[in-house]
Amino acid sequence: MSKLRVGALVSGRGSNLQALLERSAEPDARFAIVLVASNHADAFALQRARSFGVPAAVVERKEYPTRAQQQQAMVELLRQQEVDLVVLAGFDRVVGTELLVAFPGRIVNIHPSLLPAFSGGLHAQAEALAYGVKVSGCTVHFVTETVDGGPIVLQTAVPVLENDTAASLAERILAAEHQTLPRAVDLIARGLVRVEGRRVFIDAACESKEMNSEVEQR
Ligand code: GAR
Repeated sequence: MSKLRVGALVSGRGSNLQALLERSAEPDARFAIVLVASNHADAFALQRARSFGVPAAVVERKEYPTRAQQQQAMVELLRQQEVDLVVLAGFDRVVGTELLVAFPGRIVNIHPSLLPAFSGGLHAQAEALAYGVKVSGCTVHFVTETVDGGPIVLQTAVPVLENDTAASLAERILAAEHQTLPRAVDLIARGLVRVEGRRVFIDAACESKEMNSEVEQR
């Protein structure tokens, strides 16, 4: 069975990318990471990609006259690798029209809060702590022109503890991200995700049938 071809856009440490790479290496995985592109040459995520034998590209803003041209360069790389789904796995820039037009409904992002709370920035965990919420978490959503505002695929709740710091909360949310993002990509790869307006439906009946048939085949 052919696998969903996934291209990941990254900017830094790449722990979410690592979770995706590990899941994609499992025998029952239905997706393959075929390209990792970073807007920062020194992103550790690039090394993680290379250690899995995945092509790793650098597309830095300073190499292009405009942001649109930088994003178009990313589009071309993704197209060359015949990417089906683009995953923003710790990407620190807003996706522009070039990417949205090239991959309509085929870009997902992971954000470290329960959207729509604490959207739009890069410090959602600190904002949640400062606001005083008792529960935060992470969200995987489809990317649209509204920043962090696309249809939600999966969310995982994480409690905020009284002795939390922004760092300890971020660490606990990150552990949830590492489960949630590969699961969302896996569901999309299995064709179990259907979007209707703002709502995303997951065909749970098919999912359990699929799991059972995989167990029987072993
Ligand atoms: C993750 O917590 C991700 O949710 C967040 O950046 C971190 C990247 O970590 N993304 C955003 O805040 C996007 N708005 P990683 O590089 O180790 O995956």
